[in-house]
Amino acid sequence: MNEVSQLRRSSAIEQLLSDGWLARVDWLSEIDSTNSFLKRALTEDTASILPRLAVADRQTSGRGRGQNAWWSPDGCLMFSIAWRPDRSTQSDEWDVMPRISQLPLVVGISIASALRAILPNRDQVKVKWPNDVYIDEKKLCGILIESVVGLAEPCWIIGAGVNVFVNIHNAPEPIRSKATSLHRECLSETMATLCVESVLLSIVQRLIETMALWQTDGDFLRRQWPDYCMLTDGWVDIKLTDKSLQGTCCGIDDRGALIIQDPRGRRYSVLSGVVESWSL
Ligand code: BTN
Repeated sequence: MNEVSQLRRSSAIEQLLSDGWLARVDWLSEIDSTNSFLKRALTEDTASILPRLAVADRQTSGRGRGQNAWWSPDGCLMFSIAWRPDRSTQSDEWDVMPRISQLPLVVGISIASALRAILPNRDQVKVKWPNDVYIDEKKLCGILIESVVGLAEPCWIIGAGVNVFVNIHNAPEPIRSKATSLHRECLSETMATLCVESVLLSIVQRLIETMALWQTDGDFLRRQWPDYCMLTDGWVDIKLTDKSLQGTCCGIDDRGALIIQDPRGRRYSVLSGVVESWSL
């Protein structure tokens, strides 16, 4: 690593710690997966103070949702945050736990909103349910959220892979035709200042701020989702555990489930599934 990136890295870490965004940062040169790293760390040290961040220069077994692997080339920002709801802000009225199924969508909105601030055609940065971040129907960022079991307090690991400088031409199919990078999409003025550290800083700050807001605002998702949803009014083909469903996307319900109306007018709420294809 050259001196400039070394400096940028130390100042990003310092900013995240000294401004109180995070309790701990581990910047790893190589790891299997930042999600797995944090899972192990939390299981070994159950008193770990959160939120804490793990970032990797290289991932040897990056994981995606389901059984998918995450292609983790140079130029991809790969990080995970271990997070738990903030007890001090909770009262009966504010308790976020009954709304916890909204978490993946809220994370998607947070990251999309941080990326909107970097990209010129900002309104085209959207979330493909539940939380992939796209621009013009090309994937910029994938998110993997896992809960950690066996701890005294509930805890989630929020992992994200952001294509910052990734050269998509080198990607295996089908990624090559379905993904893009921030470097490819940003304006030439922004290109000079674009770096993994600044993207990380923007995303982490936006994520922590948004999660705090969401915990105290029961209407957050209902208000924000329409502006971010890539699929609303589009035709989707969604794979469920034992079958697939095709129909028009009619937004989400209060749990964050995707509402699909089939050609016969029947409505379904899908809490978990994979949108395999769509037409907008
Ligand atoms: C997906 O699109 O299927 C989710 C991809 C999530 C990838 C990130 S990279 C950092 C973190 N560590 C992992 O092993 N996965 C997530």
